[in-house]
Amino acid sequence: MSIQTDNIQKLVERRAKARMGGGEKRIEAQHAKGKMTARERLAMLLDEGSFEEFDMFVQHRCTNFGMDKSHPDGDGVVTGCGTIDGRLVYVFAQDFTVSGGSLSKTMSEKICKVQDMALRNGAPCIGLNDSGGARIQEGIDALAGYGEIFERNILASGVVPQISCIMGPCAGGAVYSPALTDFTLMVKNTSYMFLTGPAVVKSVTGEVVDQEQLGGASVHASKSGVAHFAANNEEEAIATIKQLLSYIPQNNLETAPLKETADPVNRLEDSLNSIIPDNPNKAYDMYGVIGAIVDDGQFFEIHKDFAKNIIVGFARFNGRSVGIVANQPKVLAGVLDINASRKAARFVRFCDAFNIPLVTLVDVPGFLCGTQQEYGAIITNGAKLLYAYGEATVPKVTVTLRKGYGGAHIVMSCKQLRGDINYAWPSAQIAVMGADGAVNVLYAKDMKEDPEHAAEIFQEKKQEYEDLFSNPYQAAQKGYIDDVIEPRNTRFRVIRALEQLSGKQANVPAKKHDNLPL
Ligand code: HXC
Repeated sequence: MSIQTDNIQKLVERRAKARMGGGEKRIEAQHAKGKMTARERLAMLLDEGSFEEFDMFVQHRCTNFGMDKSHPDGDGVVTGCGTIDGRLVYVFAQDFTVSGGSLSKTMSEKICKVQDMALRNGAPCIGLNDSGGARIQEGIDALAGYGEIFERNILASGVVPQISCIMGPCAGGAVYSPALTDFTLMVKNTSYMFLTGPAVVKSVTGEVVDQEQLGGASVHASKSGVAHFAANNEEEAIATIKQLLSYIPQNNLETAPLKETADPVNRLEDSLNSIIPDNPNKAYDMYGVIGAIVDDGQFFEIHKDFAKNIIVGFARFNGRSVGIVANQPKVLAGVLDINASRKAARFVRFCDAFNIPLVTLVDVPGFLCGTQQEYGAIITNGAKLLYAYGEATVPKVTVTLRKGYGGAHIVMSCKQLRGDINYAWPSAQIAVMGADGAVNVLYAKDMKEDPEHAAEIFQEKKQEYEDLFSNPYQAAQKGYIDDVIEPRNTRFRVIRALEQLSGKQANVPAKKHDNLPL
């Protein structure tokens, strides 16, 4: 055998060994838990044959606690780039079969390298997390590694999309990298995220809770909002990442890819003319409106189980990707509360950072009142949404379907927050508050002084109020909305508005950065 052939043979063998990560037994253990290996996950995520691996031969440099006895190639993470539907992405997948995917300094260097390359080359960065956290044997070096990753998450924020998929443990400070990224997916039953695990919680507070209850996918997708998606299994999680990417651009200088559609631009949707119930206190399903107006009825929802009183997600109008924000009258009457405000604000800011126009569908009775909300800082949290809309410079098209009351009307992408095109349906009621509340405030004294005629006074004044405000024409007369449209024309009108705004330029005053109400 020539020296060259021998060298090549050694390379092939070394690569094959590196691809086995922590070895056959640990791979079996991983499979037994219902989890794929890092490489299997990447194979499923990336277009076939597109994966270009970096740093396959990187080894840890730790000598503590007998670590010098083993130096597996690759050291607990597989990194590189590839394509998804032909579009470049940078990836890292933590390999639980090597030291439980725990983060060493060298492992962090590998992750930082792909983060840097993603930023430099303007492509999304996707992390598949499955790790026991900081590598205990490395001490402060491992912590420093996390710091390096976080800093890159921050620098890349708003420049390239960052996606985290939690497919195993993610505990301690390690949770902060996913939290800094744009979207977090979790796999049900096999992943969890928490700052401190059940044992520590019990010793500190006495609370008894298991991993799933403390930080499982369902908890974070419905209660904390930390996870944007909870997938039933790893395959579903990976399919969700691909779908998500199809709606978003490669970076903040590009626009999302167009998707051709056979759905006619001028499709009229007669059902919308009768979707609003006659009784203003009766709910209807906002999903019905969204499905009726977007291309092919396809809506990709984000945060679907969290703060269901507001709906956010991506759809397309005439092939163009848009972010949809819509109050949901079916849940808490569509009221804005702390979680709804946080959820929508984060989504609006993502869309604005990545040139995705916003379409807002409004039916909001106001902000949720009461001590729970006030003590939880509904003021600051509501201001987040207000701020997000007010600062957004992407095209903003708003349709008020029914209620647009009080501060909530202003917050939901009104004209004064630089809303570009604001439409209203004839059923819109744009006012400081609903008729009952208004009459009770304005005529409380009159009704008290004349209890015999209180009901009559109430009805008369309510009618007066409704005639004046329970319609869109006061707002239309003053130019606060641009047109009152027939509901069935909504798709066509929104598409035309978006086309009109496609060359929009909007300026913001020079500043170092803003100080949004965090
Ligand atoms: C070094 C680790 C490790 C770690 C796991 N391993 N976590 N090695 N550092 N952090 C190793 C184990 O020793 C074991 O090695 C192998 O990985 C698999 O782990 P198991 O415990 O056998 O697996 P499992 O039973 O599935 O349990 C997984 C686990 C558990 C729940 C993640 O390993 C665990 O509790 N690990 C410690 C978690 C933790 O407290 N991490 C620190 C968080 S604080 P062998 O050789 O036996 O197979 C943190 C700070 C970040 O991360 C700060 C950022 C600012």
